Amino acid sequence: MKKKKKKLFNTLADKYRGDGACPECEHFGECGGCMFQDIAYENQLLLKKDYVNGLFEGIAEVEDVKPSRPFEYRNRMDMVAAFGKKGLRKAGFYRHVVDVKSCSIMQKKSNEAFIELRELLRDIEDYDYLKHEGYFRYIVLRQAMFTGQVMANFVVSRRENLMERELEPFLDRVDSASMILSDGLADLSFGEVFQTLKGGSITEDFEGIKYQITPNSFFQSNSEVAVQMYRRIKEHVQGRTLDLYSGVGSISLFVADGASHVTGVEVVDEAVETAKKNRELNSIENVDFICADALDYVSEHSADFDSLILDPPRSGMHPKMIKNIRDMKLDKIVYMSCNPATCRDDIKALEDYRVESLEAFDMFPQTPHVESIAILRRK
Ligand SMILES: C[S@@+](CC[C@H](N)C(=O)[O-])C[C@H]1O[C@@H](n2cnc3c(N)ncnc32)[C@H](O)[C@@H]1O
Repeated sequence: MKKKKKKLFNTLADKYRGDGACPECEHFGECGGCMFQDIAYENQLLLKKDYVNGLFEGIAEVEDVKPSRPFEYRNRMDMVAAFGKKGLRKAGFYRHVVDVKSCSIMQKKSNEAFIELRELLRDIEDYDYLKHEGYFRYIVLRQAMFTGQVMANFVVSRRENLMERELEPFLDRVDSASMILSDGLADLSFGEVFQTLKGGSITEDFEGIKYQITPNSFFQSNSEVAVQMYRRIKEHVQGRTLDLYSGVGSISLFVADGASHVTGVEVVDEAVETAKKNRELNSIENVDFICADALDYVSEHSADFDSLILDPPRSGMHPKMIKNIRDMKLDKIVYMSCNPATCRDDIKALEDYRVESLEAFDMFPQTPHVESIAILRRK
């Protein structure tokens, strides 16, 4: 976290900690996964409300931060295997791993799978990511909240499965299991799937829209909150709709029956391929996915749309992109963001728009992150 933001969060955390809540997890204080377990959940929401309203002062205000279930919400957790431990990095220390026995923000079934795997894979040689020696790098657990399906991926440094015997009694527990090769120096928990042990994917379901999740594909981390946000976005979409930064197409597909046509634009080819598969899975015909840089696409198609959805990366949008969006001269823009600070900067730069409404959503309880949706109206 950037220094200024960290300081602001520390000040707000002191204000809202009060007498302190009793952290649910035994690793709290050491593990880098959560920072706010000692703050009562209602106060975490107030803290995030203050944070967002501080950023947007003079521009817009949120009434509240929409809550999530406070624990057992995460769809995905990447547990590093190193130094004889399996878990998450110590807060602020990349070189230290906390031996996580159980994680209270992971969904229940995937957490139980992790607890079992810790024991089963105890004797498998792990990978020292400081010396770049060894074999077993990560256990990645994923769970689709609405279907309950669980995926386990085993990320290793060599194209061989040294855990076949240990995993045999475990495979009944999950819907998908894969061996993944990550043989570079970079500390990556994804890579080539070189052996599918079971299934190969899991499926999530957002109010009838099905999303296939493969070992390397992105999916929102908290389905319950994501679906609330998508519902809100859908209310503001009509006609020919452009979904910029569309990732695996989850927003495009969710809003499709509220639009005449949706075009999703995403720069990562693999994400676009996943989006297309999900379109087929749902037999949705009025959505196209295009692999392109958003900047290039918008410069050539500025007159083709009635609605615009933006969901850029945390870094926000390029100044040239802001200019291109202004040139589209749309009446309304829906801006979803995982970083309210860059969202605020982009909105300021979109000078000919005012904020009609701003909502904040707690996608990541127990952590400082907060998501938002701004509806922008042309002045
Ligand atoms: C916050 S994610 C959006 C996730 C997406 N809404 C979903 O649900 O899958 C931002 C996306 O923007 C993509 N991206 C980043 N820079 C881009 C660019 N210049 N042009 C198009 N897409 C870009 C990233 O690859 C990422 O998938």
